[in-house]
Amino acid sequence: MLHVLQHPLAAHVITHLRDKTTKPATFRTLCYQITLLLAIEATRSLTTEDKLIETPLEPVTGRVLSGNLAVVPILRAGLGMVQPFLDIFPDTTVGYIGLERDHETAVARSYYCKLPPLKDGHVMLVDPMLATGGSAVQAIDVVRASGARAITLVSIVSAPEGVALVENHHPAVPIFTAALDRELNARKYILPGLGDFGDRLYGT
Ligand code: PRP
Ligand code: URA
Repeated sequence: MLHVLQHPLAAHVITHLRDKTTKPATFRTLCYQITLLLAIEATRSLTTEDKLIETPLEPVTGRVLSGNLAVVPILRAGLGMVQPFLDIFPDTTVGYIGLERDHETAVARSYYCKLPPLKDGHVMLVDPMLATGGSAVQAIDVVRASGARAITLVSIVSAPEGVALVENHHPAVPIFTAALDRELNARKYILPGLGDFGDRLYGT
């Protein structure tokens, strides 16, 4: 199921991310801000459990997060989305999946994978661009094979083609995105999009 962030701040940040005059330092700050908003939305279904504590006045049973949460960025651009998750979920473990699209074919090639124990945990798979969906589908396959109980895909900009591919291959994986764009161009870049996210994040 696709969830598109509806918030005036999200629209504001996306516009500045798209702007080709935005430089890497500002781009990184905007990436942090939009991911924080997405992280809050995408974790609404996390499980909680009772915890008995004492306030200065009396005992009370509150709720605290339960279960294991892992954030898994797809390298390299996904790295820009890790810190906002760690800032609000400090006990989160981090895994890395390295995938890079071939410039001619746009097919993603795997070059690295290092995952924490994921069995029965909840994985937030983060990658700012969901274009053809090839990278996301490959990454979900890997995470699922490691035994994750629940997987959520978090992207910043998505194309309808990528959303459809993920929904076809992994219908149980919810997708949270800040913008659903129009289409892909002939080189499989998102339109209107924002260009190559990794290049804009790191100035390459
Ligand atoms: C970008 C992006 C996604 C992928 C999306 O990464 O960060 O991982 O493309 O495209 P897809 O949906 O068609 O698979 P890229 O391969 O450019 O690598 P990078 O992050 O190292 O720049
Ligand atoms: N990857 C990007 O960084 N941008 C696109 O538009 C498509 C894939």
